[in-house]
Amino acid sequence: MTGANVRIAGVGKYLPERVMTNHEIESLVDTSDEWIKKRTGIAERRIAAPDETTSTMAVAAARDALAMAGLAPTDLDLIVIATGTPDHLGFPAAGSLVQEALGATRAGAFDVGAGCAAFGYGLVVGAQFVKTGALKNVLVAGSDVMSRIIDWRDRGTCVLFGDGAGAVVLQQTDRPGGLRSFVLGSDGCGAPKLIMPGGGSKMPASHESVEARAHFLKMEGANVFRFATNVIPGSILEATEKAGLTPADLSLVIPHQANIRIIDHAREKLRLPPERVFVNLDRYGNTSAASIPVALCEAFEQGRIHERDIVAMCAFGAGLCWAAAVWEWN
Ligand code: COA
Repeated sequence: MTGANVRIAGVGKYLPERVMTNHEIESLVDTSDEWIKKRTGIAERRIAAPDETTSTMAVAAARDALAMAGLAPTDLDLIVIATGTPDHLGFPAAGSLVQEALGATRAGAFDVGAGCAAFGYGLVVGAQFVKTGALKNVLVAGSDVMSRIIDWRDRGTCVLFGDGAGAVVLQQTDRPGGLRSFVLGSDGCGAPKLIMPGGGSKMPASHESVEARAHFLKMEGANVFRFATNVIPGSILEATEKAGLTPADLSLVIPHQANIRIIDHAREKLRLPPERVFVNLDRYGNTSAASIPVALCEAFEQGRIHERDIVAMCAFGAGLCWAAAVWEWN
């Protein structure tokens, strides 16, 4: 396989077996199945088993993506793990754990952190290595165990998130298409709106930080909502125009699966019919960095992506930041 272009040669996903319904959350916080469905669109989410971690889920998704690509782990040149919940805080990166578990003996490995937008960043980073001709086969996985950083006493956040992993294998090709355009953005003044205050170098773990519940995600829901309703249609439009296209050319849009109201708003703004916007958040909630690759994998499995299709992906998250990509399926 020669030529300096990139294609997605394989997709894969892993969702933990354990299903947590809205009714189950009713026993934890003051909420209702009706409220959660109406205000978010979420009916249930998956929760990782005690022995499952970001790296074990990424490995499961990666194995499926490699199988679809017809590649062995030893064919991989690089592993990029998009996550905000690595098994360990940077030492080591989840990427090295995935590399070891897969037996990807030739691959370099590192993590990309950009909140829920991390997979978008990872996808664009991985694609650059392939497009320049520097590397042939790159695995990019998004994996997050949000259930371990959620405050199960906070009804404003605990109803939203779930656990999971998705992966793609990027491969060098001489076919046209692939990554047509991308937009990466950041507005760091929004950092306090979606933040885990403790555990990093600013507030190392202490008795006080644990007592203050500082190791859980804090969110200003309404502010993040406002940000998302602007940035999703805005960045998709920007990326689409960069590719020399209009929204009418998009065969499928895969938006970050955070809230059905955010997705519907973006769909209306881009004037797209419902069948051209992928939704699976009813079953999984917001799986953070796994959201886009899990949805991409399911869209492919459902026969909703065909040769030459133009697929737009867009995620937003902590930072605040965002990533959009327009991909021509090749
Ligand atoms: N169950 C019942 N009531 C809830 C609730 C829950 N789980 N969560 C919040 N409420 C209450 C609020 O306390 C508030 O009550 P009050 O009026 O008595 O103060 C009321 O519902 C309305 O709150 P509001 O924040 O306006 O609700 P909302 O309709 O905006 O929905 C979110 C809240 C969190 C679902 C919504 O803001 C959202 O999705 N934000 C974006 C979050 C996101 O995408 N984060 C991930 C980024 S990667």
